[in-house]
Amino acid sequence: MAIPHEVIEEIKYKNDIETTISQYVNLKRRGKNLVGLCPFHSEKTPSFTIYPENGSFYCFGCGVGGDVITFTGLIENLDYVESVKLLAEKSGITLPQDGYDDSMQRLRNRIYDINRESAKFFHNYLMSEDGKWALQYLTGRGLTLKTIKQFGLGAAPDSWDALIKHLKDKGFTINEMITANVIGKSQRGSYYDRFRKRVMFPIINIRGNVVGFSGRAMPGDDKAGGKYVNTSDTPVYKKSENLFGINYAKNNCSEQIILVEGNMDVISLHQAGFTNAVAPLGTAFTPEQVNLIARYTKEIVLMLDSDAAGQKAIARATQLLEKSGLNIRVVVIPNGKDPDEFIKNNGPDRFKALLTGAVSDIEYKLLMAADGLLLDTDDGRLKYLNKAAQILSSTNDSMTRDIYIGRLCEKYSVSRTALTEKVNEYRRQNKNKAEKKEINDILRPKYTKDDINPERRLSVKGVAAEEMVLSVLLQHPDFIANAYEALPIDKMITDLNRRVYKCLIESYENGGAVDISVFAQSFSVGEVGYLVTLQNNDKAGNNAKTVLNDCIKVILEEYKRLNSSSPKEQTVENWASQLQEIIKNKQKGNGKNG
Ligand code: CTP
Ligand code: MN
Repeated sequence: MAIPHEVIEEIKYKNDIETTISQYVNLKRRGKNLVGLCPFHSEKTPSFTIYPENGSFYCFGCGVGGDVITFTGLIENLDYVESVKLLAEKSGITLPQDGYDDSMQRLRNRIYDINRESAKFFHNYLMSEDGKWALQYLTGRGLTLKTIKQFGLGAAPDSWDALIKHLKDKGFTINEMITANVIGKSQRGSYYDRFRKRVMFPIINIRGNVVGFSGRAMPGDDKAGGKYVNTSDTPVYKKSENLFGINYAKNNCSEQIILVEGNMDVISLHQAGFTNAVAPLGTAFTPEQVNLIARYTKEIVLMLDSDAAGQKAIARATQLLEKSGLNIRVVVIPNGKDPDEFIKNNGPDRFKALLTGAVSDIEYKLLMAADGLLLDTDDGRLKYLNKAAQILSSTNDSMTRDIYIGRLCEKYSVSRTALTEKVNEYRRQNKNKAEKKEINDILRPKYTKDDINPERRLSVKGVAAEEMVLSVLLQHPDFIANAYEALPIDKMITDLNRRVYKCLIESYENGGAVDISVFAQSFSVGEVGYLVTLQNNDKAGNNAKTVLNDCIKVILEEYKRLNSSSPKEQTVENWASQLQEIIKNKQKGNGKNG
C-alpha cells in the first residue's frame, strides 16, 4: 500500500471527477453518466464515459480508465504519485511527509543524480587535456565555449569503465547505473560504460533535470558501432515524450517553435539566436511530443530536410499536428542542407529570411504536389488540380479553402464551380473514410480484452465467471469476506484476476474503502479501464448474491478441470506443447542415429 487511503479519498473528494475532467474535455450528460470525446485517442463520436457515481472514467474506444488521479496523470504526463501531489496542491491538501512508500520516487532521484554526475564527468573530461580531441571537434563545427557550456556538452573517454569507476566513487550502485542506462551488462556478465569515445549531448527535461544522453561517434570512427548511442527509456526518461532543447525553447517560444531533425541543428540555431528550436530524440515525431509543444506555443515551424525522408517526415508530422490546434508552417531548406549547415554557410540573417518565408502546410503540400508533373500540358494540369483538390479537402477551414481555390483557378484557368465541386467531392470521401476508420478503431480498441488478460483463452467460461465475481465484489464490498471463504485467492484461474482479487481482499482487510483507486497505483491504465467496466456492469442486478455464489462454483470447477491431468480434458495449448516436446525428442533421436 502506497499513499494512505484517507489521503486519496480526500483528494478525490476535493477534486470531483466531473469538474476536473470538464476542464479538459467537453462533457455532455447521458443518463446518470457523462460522455465526451476521448482526449487520449482521436475520435469523432464520444466514447469517453465518466461515472460520477463511483468517481471513475472509461473510454470504450481506446480502453483507458481509472479515477480522477489516473486521469490527471494521463493528461498531464505524470506518474501516480506526481498526480496525487498535483491534485493535493491544487486543492490545498498537505500530504504526509512519510506516510507513503516513495521508493519509486527515491529511485528516480538517484537516477537524476547519476545523470547529473555523469554529465559533469563528461563535461569535465571534454574540458581536460585528454578531451582535446572532442573539444576540437565541437569548436571545429563552429560551437563557441559559451554554447558548449550552456548545453553542458561533454565527451566520453575511450574506456570501458571510466564512468563506472567514477560513479562507484560517488557512491552509486551498479544496479542504479544499469537502471539509469549509463552502463550495460555483457553476456559474460561484466559491466561496461555504454558511452565510449563519443561527444555527449545531455538531454534535459522541462524541469531542468538531465534525463538521458545522446552520444555521437567521431567522424571516421569505424569501430564506434553506430553514429549515435542514445539512452533507452528509463524510469525518468521516455524518448518519445521528450524533445532536445525544450528546456530552453519553452522560455522563448511565445511566437513559435522550430522543429529540426538533429541535436546539432538545435544547438547551432540557439547559438545563432534562434532559441526556440527543438528536435525529436532519434525517433519519429510522436503525439506526446506534439502535446508538449502545444503546451508552450501556438505555432510550429517544421524545418526538416528536403530529401525524400524529410518529406515523408513532414507529411507524417502535419498529419499528427492536424488536431493539435497548432498553426503549422513549413520551411524547405535549399539544396538539401540541414539547418546547422545552412546557418553556418549563410548566417543568421539569411536564416531569418528563410523563416519569414515559411509557408503554411497547405501551401507546402500544394508546392510539393507539382513535383514530377508537366504543368504546361493539359494532362499535367488536370492531374495537378486533382491532387490540389485532395489537399484542400483536408482542411476544415472554409476560408482557407476558398482562398486557395481562388488562387488555383486563376493560375490554371479553371472555373471556380468546377474546382469547388471537386474539393467537396473529396471532402465527402474523407468523411466516409474517417467514419469507417473510427468504427474500426472502436471495434478494435487499443487495449483489447485479450491484451488485458492474455490468459482468457485458458477458459472462456472460467474467466467470464471470474469477471462476474469481481464485478459483484466491486459493487458490494460487503460480500468480500464470504467470497474469500468460498474462493481462496489461488483458485482464481487467470493471473490478472487473481491479482485483482488479492488486492480487493487485502484492501478490504485493511479496512480501506474498496474502489477503483485501490488499483490505480499498481495496475496499468488498460487494466484499470477493464476494472472500471466491471465496476459499472450491472448485469447481476438484484441477484448479486446468487450470481456471486454460482460464479464461484464455476471458477472452482474450471480450476479443477484445468489442473487435473486427465488427457481427455487437455487444453489445445497443452497438447501442442507436448507434441512439440515429442517432435524434439524424436529429432534428437534421429540425430544420434544419423
Ligand atoms: N539519430 C539517432 N541515431 C542515429 C542517427 C540519427 O538517434 N543512428 C538522431 C539524432 O538525434 C540526430 C538526428 O537523428 O541528431 C539527426 O540525424 P543526423 O542528421 O544523422 O545527425 P546530425 O545531428 O545532423 O549529426 P551531424 O550533423 O553531426 O552529422
Ligand atoms: Mn547535421
